[in-house]
Amino acid sequence: MRDTPPIFQLLERLQGDRPWGSMLDAGTGARSARWMAGLPTTRWTAVSADPAMLAETRAALGPLRAADRLLAGNWSDAAFLAGERHDTVLAEYLLGAVQPYAPGLQPRLFARLRPLVGQRLYVIGLDPYAGGQGGSADDRLLRAIGRFRDGCLRRAGLVPYREYPAEWVLARLGEAGMAVRFARRFPNLYDARWVGMQLSSAAEALQGRAPACVVARMAAEAETLRARAAAHGVLRSGADYVIMAEPA
Ligand SMILES: C[S@@+](CC[C@H](N)C(=O)[O-])C[C@H]1O[C@@H](n2cnc3c(N)ncnc32)[C@H](O)[C@@H]1O
Repeated sequence: MRDTPPIFQLLERLQGDRPWGSMLDAGTGARSARWMAGLPTTRWTAVSADPAMLAETRAALGPLRAADRLLAGNWSDAAFLAGERHDTVLAEYLLGAVQPYAPGLQPRLFARLRPLVGQRLYVIGLDPYAGGQGGSADDRLLRAIGRFRDGCLRRAGLVPYREYPAEWVLARLGEAGMAVRFARRFPNLYDARWVGMQLSSAAEALQGRAPACVVARMAAEAETLRARAAAHGVLRSGADYVIMAEPA
């Protein structure tokens, strides 16, 4: 039996009896590619702007059919996959990740993808949580972790992901000529493992990219946040969203 993550189970329910046909994973990774490769598609294409991520994705998959493709490419390149059309297009946590690879593209991302969508586009995203003020104790702690992580990336000369709320996505989809058929938020829970990964990836980003005193100060701050999160327990804050749209 397939061990399908709940968010992909939802997409399978939304798809119902409709054929998946030719499918494009517009921002691939091991999770989404593994799921897509198990669907009854006629062929699939998985795209990443990051060759290392593409290699990891390939390593997570079994044998491919002759027509299945893993492609390195960037949606900022107008010629990339120009003229192609795929029955089903998936953008799973693509939007926020576009910022480091194609700064400035995010407001035009769905217009860029629109000609590639034959039947349906599924968007999975994350409401931003590192900005703003106030909220619950969970909101404040999650925001502190997000700000710390983004601050470390910037200090290391890297560009953090930039997320947008579901309403922003709905507006961009409308502008791109897509009709939204389904949209729902799902509240998020963040456990100690997730907190640990955020903090350690932030610390890793700084290694060799910042002076030792900065690395040491950030490591101490990471430890404070780790201890606060451990004392707090699971964080209930923010939401992911799932949106399904079709060419209008
Ligand atoms: C957060 S990962 C997506 C997660 C993925 N669906 C999974 O299963 O783990 C974002 C993906 O989008 C890709 N991406 C970001 N910006 C891109 C761009 N401008 N063009 C093409 N791919 C892009 C990244 O290279 C990466 O493969």
